[in-house]
Amino acid sequence: MSVTNPVSTRTTPALDAERIRQDFPILQREVHGKPLVYLDNGASAQRPACVIDAEGDCYRQYYANIHRGVHMLSQESTRAFEAVRGKAAGLLNAASEREIVFTRGTTESINLVAQSHVRPMLQPGDEILITGMEHHSNIVPWQLICEYTGAKLVVVPFSDAGELSLEDVASRITSRTRFISVMQVSNALGTINPAREIVQLARRHGLTILLDGAQAAPHMPVDVQDLDCDFYVFSAHKLYGPTGVGVLYGKYDLLKAMPPWQGGGDMIRSVTFERTEFAEPPARFEAGTPNIGGVIGLGAAIDYFQALDPAAVLAHETDLLRYAEAQMADIPGLRIIGTAADKAGILSFVMEDAHPHDIGTILDADGIAIRAGHHCAQPVMQRYGVPATARASFAAYNTRAEVDALIASLHKVHDLFGR
Ligand code: ALA
Repeated sequence: MSVTNPVSTRTTPALDAERIRQDFPILQREVHGKPLVYLDNGASAQRPACVIDAEGDCYRQYYANIHRGVHMLSQESTRAFEAVRGKAAGLLNAASEREIVFTRGTTESINLVAQSHVRPMLQPGDEILITGMEHHSNIVPWQLICEYTGAKLVVVPFSDAGELSLEDVASRITSRTRFISVMQVSNALGTINPAREIVQLARRHGLTILLDGAQAAPHMPVDVQDLDCDFYVFSAHKLYGPTGVGVLYGKYDLLKAMPPWQGGGDMIRSVTFERTEFAEPPARFEAGTPNIGGVIGLGAAIDYFQALDPAAVLAHETDLLRYAEAQMADIPGLRIIGTAADKAGILSFVMEDAHPHDIGTILDADGIAIRAGHHCAQPVMQRYGVPATARASFAAYNTRAEVDALIASLHKVHDLFGR
């Protein structure tokens, strides 16, 4: 029977999480004598053996520097590295692999766009539009270029539920707006923002726009042509891949018009002391020897994630979210921060009388890893008047049994700290 109703795919998880768990060696270990329950995927996901092996095989079998050597190892490494550009283009449905730039991660991708695309067009008094729920990596790079140019950061507020309104976004676009940068999914609240509609607003005003997909690309299908965004960024390590690697997608005509951000080897066509001619994108933006093994690991991670089926991953993680939320409602004094109607598998919460760090420590004693802190989104904490939250974030390998363990441990926190 084929499933045609998207609602039923969201409520009938097709993933076999127990089988997926077997692919992740680390999930077999214990923490404090208890089976590891890893619910800190928003910070970084774990890696399947195929990713660990892909990176290891590169070093064991064919590693050399890329784009430089006539020798066999260099050619093999170059082929393996460049093949990942096609895989990343496939993951995002980019029109061409020339639109894929490898970076160190989401943060570097955003800084690159800020310095190379946005900064050159800014005059004093110009505005850059972001939202109040952004991660620091989508705030500070814009503040830096505002500082240099005299431009201003304009921030769209969000509701108590953690939702943006399109009217609020539209009303902040002025004749001085030059660029918009918005997260697709909030790492602190879980909100799935109306990214496509925000891009349409940008289009209507002739503005270019970046979508921060750090918490979206590892959890749902992404189609940059359908979204019609100008730039899209994500990190490998949240998508079951290595740290220190990320992707910047940019529409080719925009990339072609952008000056390099960093200078060095591999990004030039010719160099004399008088003048340097730059390479075409994406090489123009990849100065220096890149993280070759890391990019090859990312390729394996993309293959793995695609084989799981991003739509099935979203359905599975949504099921875990709803299952956890329903049980959290029975824990006295627990308040979920971020109650948007459209949410990814991220659950931020606070508990009366227990600091998030205490919650994190008690859960750790039960083998349960969550994040406690401000989640690199201090303005979000300020918006809710809390210093920090505890956060459980789901991945494809998490199970309802793990949610049960989380809930049991949270009841312990309540028994210890609650009134
Ligand atoms: N941005 C990552 C998080 O939300 C590190 O935890």
